Amino acid sequence: MQNNTTRQLTLEQKCALLSGGSTFQTRALPGCGIPAIWLSDGPHGVRKQAGPADHLGINPSEPATCFPTASAVASSWDPALGEEIGRALGQEAAAQDVAVVLGPGLNTKRSPLCGRNFEYFSEDPYLAGKMAAAYIRGIQENGIAACPKHFAANNQELRRMASDSIVDERTLRELYLTNFEIAVTEGKPRSIMTSYNMVNGTYANENLHLLQEILRDTWGFDGAVVTDWGGSNDHVLGVKNGSTLEMPAPGLDSARELCKAVRDGKISEVDINARLEELLTLIDQTTGALEKAPKTIDWDAHRALARKAAAESIVLLKNKGGLLPLDPAAKVAVIGDFAKTPRYQGAGSSLVNAPRVDSFLDVLEASGIQTVGYAQGFDRQGKPDGRLQAQAVELAAKADVVLLFLGLDEVKESEGLDRSDMKLAQNQIDLLLAVHRTNPRLAVILSCGSAVETGWQSHCEALLWAGLGGQAGAGAVLDALTGKVNPAGRLAETWPIHCEDNPSYKNFGTPGRNVEYREGLYVGYRYYQTAGVPVAYPFGYGLSYTTFAYRDLTATPTGVSVTVENTGDRAGDEVVQVYIAKPDAKIFRPAQELKGFARVHLEAGESRTVTIPLDDKAFRYWNDPANRWAVEGGDYEVRVGGSSADIRLTATVAVAPSGDADPYAGLALPHYQGGQVQDVPDEEFAALLGHAIPVAKVAIDRNMTLGEIGHARSPLGWLVHVIHKHLLDKSLASGTPDLNLLFNYNMPLRAIAKMTGGIVSMGMVDALVMELKGFWIIGIVRLLVEFVKNDRANKAMEKRLSEGGRKP
Ligand code: BGC
Repeated sequence: MQNNTTRQLTLEQKCALLSGGSTFQTRALPGCGIPAIWLSDGPHGVRKQAGPADHLGINPSEPATCFPTASAVASSWDPALGEEIGRALGQEAAAQDVAVVLGPGLNTKRSPLCGRNFEYFSEDPYLAGKMAAAYIRGIQENGIAACPKHFAANNQELRRMASDSIVDERTLRELYLTNFEIAVTEGKPRSIMTSYNMVNGTYANENLHLLQEILRDTWGFDGAVVTDWGGSNDHVLGVKNGSTLEMPAPGLDSARELCKAVRDGKISEVDINARLEELLTLIDQTTGALEKAPKTIDWDAHRALARKAAAESIVLLKNKGGLLPLDPAAKVAVIGDFAKTPRYQGAGSSLVNAPRVDSFLDVLEASGIQTVGYAQGFDRQGKPDGRLQAQAVELAAKADVVLLFLGLDEVKESEGLDRSDMKLAQNQIDLLLAVHRTNPRLAVILSCGSAVETGWQSHCEALLWAGLGGQAGAGAVLDALTGKVNPAGRLAETWPIHCEDNPSYKNFGTPGRNVEYREGLYVGYRYYQTAGVPVAYPFGYGLSYTTFAYRDLTATPTGVSVTVENTGDRAGDEVVQVYIAKPDAKIFRPAQELKGFARVHLEAGESRTVTIPLDDKAFRYWNDPANRWAVEGGDYEVRVGGSSADIRLTATVAVAPSGDADPYAGLALPHYQGGQVQDVPDEEFAALLGHAIPVAKVAIDRNMTLGEIGHARSPLGWLVHVIHKHLLDKSLASGTPDLNLLFNYNMPLRAIAKMTGGIVSMGMVDALVMELKGFWIIGIVRLLVEFVKNDRANKAMEKRLSEGGRKP
């Protein structure tokens, strides 16, 4: 049904509204009484850029509390904490007049190498979905909007704006959409951000299957769909298939394209009206909420929350001989650059300008712990430095206990760049070995937002993963070391022994457009446990300074009840995890899957009976031929424990079948049957997909990326490629990657038109494509002609829009 405003706008006005007006604002039409609203990143803090703005966190932003990143907070397994953080984000956003918070980020961690894993929750869609829904509820509590992202199957940074995720429908639904399903149905976000990539040959932002059939028709989403920045490929198709708002500011060329498509009958005005109403509802609701919201921020309270969140999320991975908590009489040596200059967030669009960031050295000084001093120990960018190492070893010799702060540097965890391995820099490992030889009473504190290889772990007695703990993370580390806080975080992603053990290892970071999800359902622990591959630290794992016992498990298909007792001598939190398994399954499935969890606080000696519901997702699998969720009937094991590898009690429940035929009847899928998916042959992957594996060729078209431009047939392209590559390599070697260069490397040509505020039109991009195809002179001439045409058309349309009001 059309509302009044829609009826009173001209087609041109409507089309103009469906793309952004500036980097982080929608377009205002003051003559029609339509204001612009602000959208700002991001998942763990508000990044409002009131001055020069960019989508990569390069220019400064307004001060905001920097909470731990999602990969840390997911380790708390505490949705209530997520909701509290969300509430604080919502308050800070509203105080800065931000209507839409661009987060949370909830993509499934397919590979530990994805450069943005620090911004995402988990390898498990259930945990990620629950955490995301909690953030969304919190952010939206005051009436503004969350914008969960990036929908969908966006699991790597390489060629991120123009890659094609080739994934079978069951895997898509179970692994890459269930998180969004939970976030949407339980969090009820007012907006959602599509991802840059294609999914099975169609851009996510113009994907009818994702945006209409699944998101709107099945999950009941009725908000606004927003593109990622520069992520609109074909705006007309996007609007037709369910994408509401193109961001950032493509200029009026985009609006003209839409108007023309209506006139040419490619899209109906009904579709335009539907999208417009989604946008106007978002603007109306959030503007109203912002008017009422307080404009002050309780910095101290948010800082305290950031510290609490970091403390709840710390994971104790090893504690041999009870080295931790620290003996109050112990003299400690503090070693490692990260103790002085913390790594507390990742690089890119999520970068928060925190008002005050604590270092471990700052908080240590006030703690009363006796120390023998601090040594930097290593060069942060990995350069071997014997002098720094010798100083550290000398210091270690004087201490009772060494606190060694290791981690990944800034280059390793950044938007736009995947990791090439999971290793700590060799100079840090060398330091560890040298210090350990001098003083084996050694605790390593790791600062990183994703899993690393820990082949060196026998050289430390204690190992604490601090994640990227936000601005107040250092205090939380101190509290965990001293025992003021009893660590209770549990890994939300598996830490494999070797990077090469990862199921997607051979299909990650491959050249070309296609990203083949050959491992299917077997991501993270779903793979390691099915295929029997040993890991360093399993999913759900984490130690405590106390111990827990489990008893009295009862289970039905709708829920679990179990009694947990704190059997140690200090208070602590246990994360009770429920996994569902069907060892006799006919339809292949992972060995077990997380379907419920609860974090419980227990005083020393206290017992509590915990009930954990099992919902509609507990037993289902996606049956593609039937095009619906189905259930294989029979007995299921309900496994309850403290990690995926520490199952304490098991019960059996009988579940009724949905009566669907075996979707794989007649297909040869031996690798999927046993979960041995590292080397799935082409025919078997094609059988899983239900069609031939698409072949990707580098094409000279609107979607050629600057990283591919060397394949063009134009000296101009070759020159741009050589210069760009040289600058990029230089910036990576410097230790501080230039995010613009990185972005451009993965950016398709059409994004130039989408990100230049109207200076470049699609016609100009097409001229550039001609140039790159080898039509040098015609290409250049056309470019100039299109430039003049675009400039004139922009000016005329700007004038009409600024002078025009509503129709009576
Ligand atoms: C990122 C998004 C972010 C947007 C706006 C993009 O580069 O992928 O996550 O919200 O920029 O800054």
